[in-house]
Amino acid sequence: MYDNILNAHLDTLKQSGSYRYFLNVQKSAQSFPEFTFEDADGHQKTALNWCSNDYLCMSLDADVLQSLVRVAEESGVGAGGTRNISGTTVHHNRLESCLANLHGTESALIFGSAFMANLGALGTLGKAFPGCIILSDERNHASMIEGIKLARCDKQIFRHNDAEHLESLLRELPLERPKIIAFESLYSMAGTIAPIQEFVRLAKRYNALTYVDEVHAVAVYGRGGAGLVEEHVGEGQVDMINGTFAKGFGTLGGYIASRALFIDYVRSFAPSFIFTTSLPPALCAATLTSVEKVRSQSGLQEAYQAHVRSFRRILREHSVPFDDNPSHITRIFIGNAARCKAIADILLHEHGAYLQPINFPTVPEGEECLRLTVTLRHSEAQMRHLASALAQTLDSVSSSSI
Ligand SMILES: Cc1ncc(COP(=O)(O)O)c(C=O)c1O
Repeated sequence: MYDNILNAHLDTLKQSGSYRYFLNVQKSAQSFPEFTFEDADGHQKTALNWCSNDYLCMSLDADVLQSLVRVAEESGVGAGGTRNISGTTVHHNRLESCLANLHGTESALIFGSAFMANLGALGTLGKAFPGCIILSDERNHASMIEGIKLARCDKQIFRHNDAEHLESLLRELPLERPKIIAFESLYSMAGTIAPIQEFVRLAKRYNALTYVDEVHAVAVYGRGGAGLVEEHVGEGQVDMINGTFAKGFGTLGGYIASRALFIDYVRSFAPSFIFTTSLPPALCAATLTSVEKVRSQSGLQEAYQAHVRSFRRILREHSVPFDDNPSHITRIFIGNAARCKAIADILLHEHGAYLQPINFPTVPEGEECLRLTVTLRHSEAQMRHLASALAQTLDSVSSSSI
């Protein structure tokens, strides 16, 4: 009985075209973004990765790698305990100080991932204040939604990036009622950017806290990679920032940065912080090197944005349609799961261009898309190759029967 039920669910998913097939990527630090993979017939093939979040290629950085190896040799691999039970080392503390410094906050707290940080922070903050209500952008990431569920407080959803709608909801709430406005500074799938200044203004006016997921913005925007909040409103203007090490900083793990009191509260009550083994010391050391290196390279964020602009210019030259959003994430809207997969399959197998089709539940059904990310290691010749492959493939698949 149990197997039949699970199989029926999986069959439905397969029929919808949203079933997930993972490509076995043989990532190479030397030749990234080129990698090898084995196709269905067992043949070794090469392709270029166009969907990595390692925007600045910090996962490949020699100094980051050296820190990882050096501290692993010194301290061993695993931390061997939760933060409370022998799992806090000098490397954890140094990284937290560096993050607080990066965001100009009093304190910071690291988690196993930004997913866990969103669960822990939203889940505990929403519970902390009697009668609290969380106002959440309709496009917020699954980890924020799960965190809000854990808080078990009231919630209201506002239309994506719509300050007017948010204000209409806030206006109806008593000023003294505790409220948290939860949003992402940069939406990872559509590449849209929140009206951060407006949201902060509304929060002040209506006595709300602000919680901002900057996962796709840290390292890539703001002074020294401090993110979009720093770029749009400066330090100290939002109540809590959530960031990751796993994208622009190229390692693994997540964090929150905030006032010391808020950090102490989350540290003391969040199950996803308390009841899990802390990050390996070597990973903290490698991440510290990455954050410090990103911070110290002046012009890095501008150089990356210039690279993104070149990429988009080349796409335009090849008449490849994409959303003209203000971020580094380039989305090609497809709107159908089967077509999206067919396009991605042709790109991979016929052109050696790897773009993961983005489907439900990452995006709502009917909003399937190709999400393109260019990294600092993609050359102009590689961009031209992709643009030409996309132009041909989009054309052939839109005129076919799928
Ligand atoms: C907006 C957003 N928040 C949080 C996360 C979780 O980050 P992490 O990979 O560090 O768990 C992601 C990851 O994809 C994300 O896109």
